[in-house]
This record gives sequence, C-alpha cells and structure tokens, in this order.
Amino acid sequence: MTDYPNLFSPMRIGPKTAKNRIWMTAHSTQLVKDHNFSDAHVHYYAERAKGGVGVITMEAMAVHPTTQPYKGKIFAFDKAVVPNYRKLAAAVREYDCLLLAQPWHRGRETSGQVNRLPVWAPSSVPCAVYREMPHVLTEEEIGELVQGYVLAARYAVEGDLDGVEVHGLAHGYLLGQFLSPATNHRDDKYGGDFDRRLSLVLEIVEKTRAETGRDKIVGVRINGNDGDVPGGLTNEHWTRIARTIADTGLVDYISVTQGTYLERMNIYGATPKPAGFQVEDTARIKAAVPELPVVVAGRMNTPELAEQVLASGGADMIGMARTLIADPEWPNKARDGKANSIRPCVGANWCLASIVNSPLACVHNPAVAREAELGVGTLLPVETVKRVAVVGGGPAGLRTALTAAQRGHHVTLFEQESELGGQVRLIGRSETYAEWQGITDWLISQLGETSVDVKLGHRVEATELLSGYDEVVVATGSTPLKHGWSSLRPASWGDGTIVPGVDQWNVHSIKEVLEGKAEIGPRVMIFDDTGARQPLVAAEYLADRRHAVTLVTRLPQVSPDLEASRDLQSTYRRARNKGIRFITDHELAEVVEDTVVLRDVWTGELVPHEDVDAVVLSTGNRADDALFHALRGSVPVRAVGDCVSPRRVFNAIWEGELAGRDI
Ligand SMILES: Cc1cc2nc3c(=O)[nH]c(=O)nc-3n(C[C@H](O)[C@H](O)[C@H](O)COP(=O)(O)O)c2cc1C
Ligand code: SF4
Repeated sequence: MTDYPNLFSPMRIGPKTAKNRIWMTAHSTQLVKDHNFSDAHVHYYAERAKGGVGVITMEAMAVHPTTQPYKGKIFAFDKAVVPNYRKLAAAVREYDCLLLAQPWHRGRETSGQVNRLPVWAPSSVPCAVYREMPHVLTEEEIGELVQGYVLAARYAVEGDLDGVEVHGLAHGYLLGQFLSPATNHRDDKYGGDFDRRLSLVLEIVEKTRAETGRDKIVGVRINGNDGDVPGGLTNEHWTRIARTIADTGLVDYISVTQGTYLERMNIYGATPKPAGFQVEDTARIKAAVPELPVVVAGRMNTPELAEQVLASGGADMIGMARTLIADPEWPNKARDGKANSIRPCVGANWCLASIVNSPLACVHNPAVAREAELGVGTLLPVETVKRVAVVGGGPAGLRTALTAAQRGHHVTLFEQESELGGQVRLIGRSETYAEWQGITDWLISQLGETSVDVKLGHRVEATELLSGYDEVVVATGSTPLKHGWSSLRPASWGDGTIVPGVDQWNVHSIKEVLEGKAEIGPRVMIFDDTGARQPLVAAEYLADRRHAVTLVTRLPQVSPDLEASRDLQSTYRRARNKGIRFITDHELAEVVEDTVVLRDVWTGELVPHEDVDAVVLSTGNRADDALFHALRGSVPVRAVGDCVSPRRVFNAIWEGELAGRDI
C-alpha cells in the first residue's frame, strides 16, 4: 500500500495505459551523435524507466534542418532514427513505461550560427535572446515544415514508439509564433484572426494523426500562459487554444507548460521559484478540457504536492524534468515509502547551463548522462576494506566519504567547523538560495545511513594522518582572495601586493558577509571580477537586510554566467527591484576610508564614490592545498574539489564521486 494512491493509480492515455501518473517531460540531453541517438541515450532513458516513471516524452527533435540551436539535435524527419527508436522502446518497455517522440521547430528562438541557415518565423520579428532577424516563411516552406512533422510521426510509428507529442506551440517556438499576434503579422491563410493563426497547428495535428492511426498516442504541448511579457498569450488565450484542439477529437492528452524566451524562468524556474508554480494555470486548462488527460509540470518536486494536485483534479498526470534528472528513482522511492531519500532538485539549473556546450549534467547527481558507468546499481562493494580519512566536510568531502562508505570502506570525516556543508551551507544562508542547502543536507542525511565517523570541530594536522589510515582524501576547499586586483592585472596577483586600502577594516569577502562575521554599514559596494553568481548572492543577501548595495564589475555585464543557467533575466529583475545598482566596466583602484575609487577599464579614468560604508570583494579563491602537499610522499593521498582548484559545486561533487569509487 502506497502513501500516494492517486499518484500510483493507472491512467488511460488514448489507446494506451500509463502504469502511474508520473510523466517525464521532454528535456535535451545533448547526447546526440550525428543528429541521431547514441547508446548513452538508451541508458539515460532506461535509467528513468527503471526508476519507475510511467511515461517518457523524449527530448525535442527537429522537424527541419533550420532548427538547430546547438550541434546536438536529433533529426526526427530522417529515417535513420527508426532503428534507435526501436532500441529505446525496447529498453523502457522492459519497465512498463510508455515512450513518445517530441517533434518541434524553434522558429526564431534560435540562431543560424551552427547550421548556417536562415532562422524561420511567420514574420520578421527577431527573438529578444538570439536577436537574429528571421526569414519570413513562404507557404511552400510552411508545407516543408508540415511534411517534417508528418515524417516525424511516420518514423515514430515505424520505430515502435507509443506515440508523438507535437511540440512547438509552447515556449514561444515556431507554432507558438504563429499563434501569437505579437509575432504573426501575416495576412495569408496562416495569419490574421484566432482561427487563421491556429490553422497551422490544426493542420499538423490532423496530419500527425493521419500518420499514427488510432493505435498510437498523439498529444500536444501548450503553454498555460506565456508569462508577464509584452504581447504574450495569456491563460485565457491558451485555454481557448486547448479547447479548440480538443474539439478536433484528434489528440489524446494535453501537456501544459509555461513561458517563452522573453521570460525563461516561467519555463524552468530556478530557485526561488516555488514548487508547483504552473499548477494554477494548468488547472484552468484542465477545467476547459475535462475529457482529456492533462499533464502539469514545473517544480513538481515532492510526492505530497503531486498527490495533492491529482486529488484536487487540477491535473491528471504529474510532469517532471529536473525532478527526475536529479533523482531517476524518485517514483520508486515515493511508491516504496522512501520519499525521505529522494535527492531533491534544488533549482540550481546547472542542468541547463551544462547543455550549452556538453551533455546534460546535474549539480549533485554525478551519474546524469553517465548512467552506464555511474548509474543505479553500478556501485560495487569493495574487495579490500580500507581505513579512509577524508579531510573537509564540504560537498567534495561529503560526496567522497559517502561513496567510499557505501562501497564498504571504513571512513572518518574530519571537519574543522562545527557544521558540515562548506560553501554550499553559506550560500544557503541567503533567503533566495536557501534551497541550495538541499545539496549538502541530502549528502549529510545519506551519510547518516552509513557508518562514517564524523569528527566536527576538528582541525586535523598532517601528523595525525601519517598512521592509522590506508588512504587520505584532502577536500580542504579554498579561501577567498582579498588582494582586490582584477584579473586584468595578472602581474599583481602573485607578488603579494594589494589594491591600496583593501586592508582596511571595512573591506570583506563574500564568505565573511554570509558567515555573519563582518560588520557591514548601510551602504555597500561589491566588487566582482569573476562573472559568477556569488556577487549577486551577496548583493541580494545584503539588500534583503536593508543595505543599499552597488555591484561593480570590471566585465561589461554583471554575472554573465547566469545566461547559461537561464536565470539571468529573472535574477537581474529581482536584484534591480531590490534597489541593487549595477556599475559595469570598472575595476577597483583604491579604497580611502569611506571613499572607493573605481577605474574605467577602457579609458583609465578614475571615478571616486563617496560614503561607502563597506566594500565586499569577489575576486576568486585560493586553493587550500597545504595539507595535501604536507602529506604527499608520506601516505597514499589525493585531493578533490576546491583544494585542487577552486571551481563550482558540480566539480566538487563530481570529483568526490570519482574518488569515492576509485579508493
Ligand atoms: C535541460 C532542460 C531541457 C529542456 N528541454 C525541453 C524540451 O526539449 N522540450 C520541452 O517540451 N521542454 C523542455 N524542457 C522543459 C521541461 O520539460 C519542463 O517543462 C520544465 O523543466 C519544468 O519542469 P521541471 O521543474 O520538472 O524541470 C527542458 C527543461 C530542462 C531543464
Ligand atoms: S542541476 Fe539543479 S535544477 Fe538541474 S536537475 Fe540538478 S538540482 Fe535540479
């Protein structure tokens, strides 16, 4: 008997039955090889099917060569996908899971940089993110597009998939661009009033169904609303679209999502976007199409929330992308009363950042896209049990200790502070990023299931480790640099000099701010040289405490790294609404009591800013590798995480996992 009876009840989807109400919504994996699936794809999807999900919609696949934002897109219109569909279908069917393809076209929301082709759109309105002026589709080209959807459906059937989810209406993609009067200025049969703007979608749905017949599932993915953006379609518009599509009698379900590239946090809301943020709009769509199964998505992170939404009738299926990236075993754990051991999706959006240049990754699930080597069931017991000392209880040390202990080693974990968690614990002190603490909370809770001996408040010396252990893993982290130089002045970094005045009492590091160790006056200037998220974390933390914050960067943009995790827009909006001022293209020249002198990086002009009570430096970290070097040659020792070189949480956990498996 499960605690979640609605979640684990079957559901009829057209001609097929899903074993439960959990639906893995589509997400790019970037595991693509030559516009086709790879073996890694089979492992990726099979892992989620094995973890208990009822239905999987695979990643969006191109219906035409003009839709290729990065190299890694599958060509759903190419018959070469068929043998791989068969492999995938067989792999997930073993676990009684349904598998669908998701044909789509991005329209203007892309660039022609990779494929060297013009970007397609209904009218010449560029996307705010890619800013490429699109080619206005001729009726002949629209015919090619429709044919792409037809071929995609045909090959899905030939490949033995369970069906097709027509994509491109949601997220502001090409069919959505036809639907919205803001982006469709045509006066032919595809533009003008509501019916004409919807006609292309209906034509594609009709032709898709003609290909699949009634034995396969056909669904559509729509928005619940586009977000609070100029010209966006509202929930009312989408409800009408859903009703009209349902009236055709040709679709078996409707999957609801949100947002366009004008406000991407409505698509995949990063923390602090609340759990279930798309439930309300989805429930209104459900009410308009009571006869069809409706899928809700958007941080549906806990079985309690899923059960509650199903019980309320707001949706019939619970859609999850990141929830299952972070923990493919989520369904089985929820079903078997082990919900406490679910590795939570903390909304860090490293997954989105990762796919810009490489295969999908998760900030704290190292097995993502590496399922064959690191997935469920690959952790084997050791033949020779060793006594292992891990020094440092941040994410790298925690992950090493956990993995090594799970394999059967006897592990002692030393942490000099009174708490585990390292820098993640500090970031988690900010209200905005409190959820990130779930990364280390989960590791700590898992550690509690092992026999790891945790020694808190214990600053370990090299001499203590020379005997009594077969291996030592150093995970001693890093310390913020406080010399004040920007990386534009490399000669100054190593020579021990400092920017004049940064040794004053009122100059601090972000770490000192978040630890609550710094006395910070009301007016604060943060200087950033990294382009990373940390300066914004500190800025929001201080603004939330009523400090007037100015964030200065020597870069042309504040924290450009956030573009990859897709939360740059929402973070800027939040920061600016909290009153945080941005100054770009300036570095720190001097601090004189409460005057900060900035230097324009292009002209060299010195600009004094008076009445600054506190200065916070974000100029990178130095690896704390002294213990590692003291032990080298005396005991078997390795280093992981920031003490090798200060990087991201992802790298720390990744290296901890590899070390834990290698010992
Ligand atoms: C890395 C990533 C890639 C995505 N790619 C797609 C896609 O190809 N097609 C699609 O319909 N949605 C895509 N999405 C959106 C998800 O399907 C889902 O609607 C969204 O992430 C919200 O659900 P979640 O909070 O469970 O992640 C993607 C999401 C992520 C995180
Ligand atoms: S990287 Fe963050 S947002 Fe993405 S799946 Fe992992 S925990 Fe969730």
